[in-house]
Amino acid sequence: MSLYPNLHKSADPALRTPRLTVVGAGIGDPELITLRAVRAIGEADVILYDALANDVLLDYARPGAIKLYVGKRRKEKAFEQEEIHELIVNQALTHGHVVRLKGGDPFVFGRGWEEMQYAQAHGLEVAYVPGVSSAVAAAGSAGIAVTLRGVSRSFWTMTATTESGDLNPELAVAAQTDTTVVILMGLHKLSFIVEIWTAAGHPDRAIAIIQDASTPQQQQIIGTIQTIEHLAAKHKNAGPAVIVIGDTVKHVIKALPTQLNHSKLL
Ligand SMILES: C[S@@+](CC[C@H](N)C(=O)[O-])C[C@H]1O[C@@H](n2cnc3c(N)ncnc32)[C@H](O)[C@@H]1O
Repeated sequence: MSLYPNLHKSADPALRTPRLTVVGAGIGDPELITLRAVRAIGEADVILYDALANDVLLDYARPGAIKLYVGKRRKEKAFEQEEIHELIVNQALTHGHVVRLKGGDPFVFGRGWEEMQYAQAHGLEVAYVPGVSSAVAAAGSAGIAVTLRGVSRSFWTMTATTESGDLNPELAVAAQTDTTVVILMGLHKLSFIVEIWTAAGHPDRAIAIIQDASTPQQQQIIGTIQTIEHLAAKHKNAGPAVIVIGDTVKHVIKALPTQLNHSKLL
């Protein structure tokens, strides 16, 4: 029996309440989505989706649901955050339930909270559905744990840059510690990261770059602070990547791949 037998039964338009559900799509593999997220997509009247959310997930939408791409792909103009806010409110007032489908978890560098706040301030009901975040699962997809008994007691996820585009000053603080550091949106700052860890006295600290985690294109580069730039220069992949720095990177477990070949949903 189906878990959600009424999934695609559309509500009476007269009864539709304008609302927003911000939904985490997971990090790439379409199986890395929650059942609650699948239900929200199936109940949506409008789906606004990003580049990092796997398109295959749109197959869960009911026939007739409106699907609008609001992300940025290479060379395309990005939607301004304010435009997305307005779109959410206008679509909800016109059609009812808007699902905002975002890569990873909407509250990890995802602007999900701001979208919910704007929508609520404009009279919409709001809800949040968590997602599998690259903050943990990108390392895991490469067989690297972010914490490991006897090796690392904590992990720290950070962006490489501040809102104004400057280098995040917290990188220098993290480099003084033994925590596992997971850096998102950091590949273009790799040389600065290397400088910071070298200046902190850790040129031999283990570091990994995991790109397109959980997808068939996944690549991982593993080295030390001293070697990583040289190793990374040989790779030409432009997909999203996280950088993981710390001793747990020395303990890679070789695991069987679990991805199916997803051209369609199960
Ligand atoms: C704007 S942030 C969004 C993070 C997302 N909300 C999450 O929880 O994973 C985008 C960054 O997430 C990381 N990222 C997202 N998906 C990834 C993937 N499949 N593999 C590696 N890194 C990924 C990259 O650092 C990318 O630059």
